[in-house]
Amino acid sequence: MKTNKLTEQYPWLAKINTVEDYLPPKYYQHLLKPYTFGGVSDLLLLKKFLHNKKFSKVLELGCGSGRASDTVVLETSNANYTFSDLSERMLEAAKQHLSEKSSFIVSDSVEYMENTENVYDLVYTLWSFSHSMHQHIHHLGIEKAEDYISSVIKKFIYLNIAKNGSFFLIHFDSLSQEQRILMRQWKRVFPAFTNIDEQSPSKQIIDKILLELDTKGEITLSINHLQGDAIHYESEDEVLETFMNFHLETYFNDSPLTESIIDDIKEQASRYRNENGSFDITPGCYVYSFVKK
Ligand SMILES: C[S@@+](CC[C@H](N)C(=O)[O-])C[C@H]1O[C@@H](n2cnc3c(N)ncnc32)[C@H](O)[C@@H]1O
Repeated sequence: MKTNKLTEQYPWLAKINTVEDYLPPKYYQHLLKPYTFGGVSDLLLLKKFLHNKKFSKVLELGCGSGRASDTVVLETSNANYTFSDLSERMLEAAKQHLSEKSSFIVSDSVEYMENTENVYDLVYTLWSFSHSMHQHIHHLGIEKAEDYISSVIKKFIYLNIAKNGSFFLIHFDSLSQEQRILMRQWKRVFPAFTNIDEQSPSKQIIDKILLELDTKGEITLSINHLQGDAIHYESEDEVLETFMNFHLETYFNDSPLTESIIDDIKEQASRYRNENGSFDITPGCYVYSFVKK
């Protein structure tokens, strides 16, 4: 078990969140680093995708505290908006700055897609859809989850995205420097992550479904792999807090594995240590977008 000495050294280990609650929104904002790709932020990628398109019914899955929602509302004024997220407190934070005419729905993303009868002409999701997919994978096992998720996504695309409707997804690259450090930790507890030298199960499932629909002519798909600009951390403590509390969502903070995970993150991160004790660690992502035919 985690020793008091460890908590004294790393006081942020005392923060613990459930999967459903996710991080407290202010702490999320505090830990969030700028994710840019060749100088272009993730929000600018989304903005460019929306440019010159018109939408009337918009859905965001895993909106969190509404970081991307503001960009979309500005770019698509006068649409009807639905924002959903599993975490009530993240959604509450989104509500504070988004129009009260919008719908705010506390839901798992895959389950929302399964159950909704609405038809959208824009559906987007940034850095979140994999959370929902991996939760189902851990719960059902990879094979059942793949069948379930595939049937839900296909049904959603056929019935809940309008003809000529658009879809935009940013998904993490599990082979980036940043994610390789994290996947080594998830692998210790989740069998679905056994092979960390290949892309995450969520990415593999998404690829299979979307490439199949593209081949059948149901959608026009584009997939871009983007290497991120290195994320700067001033100190080892900052790396550890960000990795343990933001990326690993405090999952290992009160675990028999805490110490061993901290040691491993330190060792892996040491490869990206600068002479002055700061760190630069590179993320990556895949941007999926399609138009439904
Ligand atoms: C890394 S944050 C991204 C938030 C937001 N999209 C952004 O870009 O700032 C991940 C979000 O996914 C949400 N989340 C986690 N599991 C989820 C699930 N099963 N269904 C929907 N949202 C989920 C979390 O509550 C959190 O708000």
